[in-house]
Amino acid sequence: MSQHACAGNSKVWFARTEQPSANAEGLVLRSPKKFRVHTRAYTDPAIFQAEMERIFAKTWVFVAHESQIPKVGDFQTSYIGLQPVIVSRGQDMQIHVMVNRCVHRGAVLCREAHGNGTEFNCPYHGWVYGLDGKLLAMSERREAGGYAEDFEAPEGLHRLPRVENYRGFIFASFNAEVPPLQQYLGRARTVIDRKLDMSPVGEIEFVSRPYVGRYQGNWKFQAENIVDEYHFMHTHKGFVQLQAKYGQTTGDFDVHKGGSAKSMRKVRFAGVTWDCVNGHGLVETPSGEIESYLTGEFADYFQGVHAQHGGETLASMTGKLTASIFPNLGLIHNQVRVWRPISPELTEVIIYPYELKGAPPAYNEGMLRSQERFYGPAGHGQADDVEIFARNQQGLAGSAVDWLILERGLDTDAQNDHGDYKGLTTSEAPQRALWREWERLMSAAQA
Ligand code: FES
Ligand code: FE
Repeated sequence: MSQHACAGNSKVWFARTEQPSANAEGLVLRSPKKFRVHTRAYTDPAIFQAEMERIFAKTWVFVAHESQIPKVGDFQTSYIGLQPVIVSRGQDMQIHVMVNRCVHRGAVLCREAHGNGTEFNCPYHGWVYGLDGKLLAMSERREAGGYAEDFEAPEGLHRLPRVENYRGFIFASFNAEVPPLQQYLGRARTVIDRKLDMSPVGEIEFVSRPYVGRYQGNWKFQAENIVDEYHFMHTHKGFVQLQAKYGQTTGDFDVHKGGSAKSMRKVRFAGVTWDCVNGHGLVETPSGEIESYLTGEFADYFQGVHAQHGGETLASMTGKLTASIFPNLGLIHNQVRVWRPISPELTEVIIYPYELKGAPPAYNEGMLRSQERFYGPAGHGQADDVEIFARNQQGLAGSAVDWLILERGLDTDAQNDHGDYKGLTTSEAPQRALWREWERLMSAAQA
């Protein structure tokens, strides 16, 4: 530790002393040369509560993928902020999203992560709801001190006013006025499109069980990190060294292209980043070697993708393509990642590896093995990242320093006509996307 860090008064060792406040004004400092975020944006319980109300209850939130509920009666439980929800497939194949809370006395109705059934039964007093959330029966309605003859029974579960689906990605919002989903996704749609277009039929399927884990840190660390190219060579140094030693023999179709640390750096530093309107951050590093795909082990498959979408798109698809879709969804590798805020200092991460429908089974299997190697419970990458998130939170607990610096690449990012900023690979443009939208939503609600 430097002398400087130890010097000064003993206040530096104390926990943060600000009174909790939902006032988000001044927590993001922006100027042409600076972009700073105040520590309280990650630590203050009042700010966390305000995020639930001003962000998660106001914007689109990813709740499920269609392949999780393909048949009548299928359901998946999820969260919008702290609010548990059920996503179900009704008798008419319609998708319903409703609050997972019995309207009687508030018990969580459905505790399973997913399943299939004909109705939802409340475990507390036995009220029964249909797949669309409609109240079907109240147990012992008139018996032994039951409800009056003219009791006005509620219609059913609270249904979300807006539910939209983009190519199988189901989003819901508590805000009836939220803009159409496709407009909201903006440039982030290109990442969804390219990921899905790797499938000959344009679809993905969640076929494996997800990896689920929690970390001791704020939800925004995960949202920032999934599109942070700056950290890879450092946080994942152990993995980089393994790659340098074993090269491609660990095999994962170039996803974590190996060789020396120098060659890995060259590949990883060759792309661009995006800071998109509505808070979405992207990383795009096209593959420079599509020829090897077109002539390699899965030549027929890649030639088909090439014929459908062209060389430039294939280079993008087979390169690195990552998105942090504000506020809770990530796309990286062959996985969909969801993060769920639980408290200012606790977050759940759910990783769904997916398969490309119609792609060669051996290719899908290889991608799954690759997932396990880097992101799985015994893998390298996710363990490194969540350790860093916990260290971040620990670092923010003291009161000596207030501001975090997020201005890397600010001087070289260039804005296009849609308002998105394009940066170089290790620019913190994707992280700034989150904070620009965070500031907009947090302060718009205050006004
Ligand atoms: Fe559900 Fe009473 S809380 S039936
Ligand atoms: Fe990482």
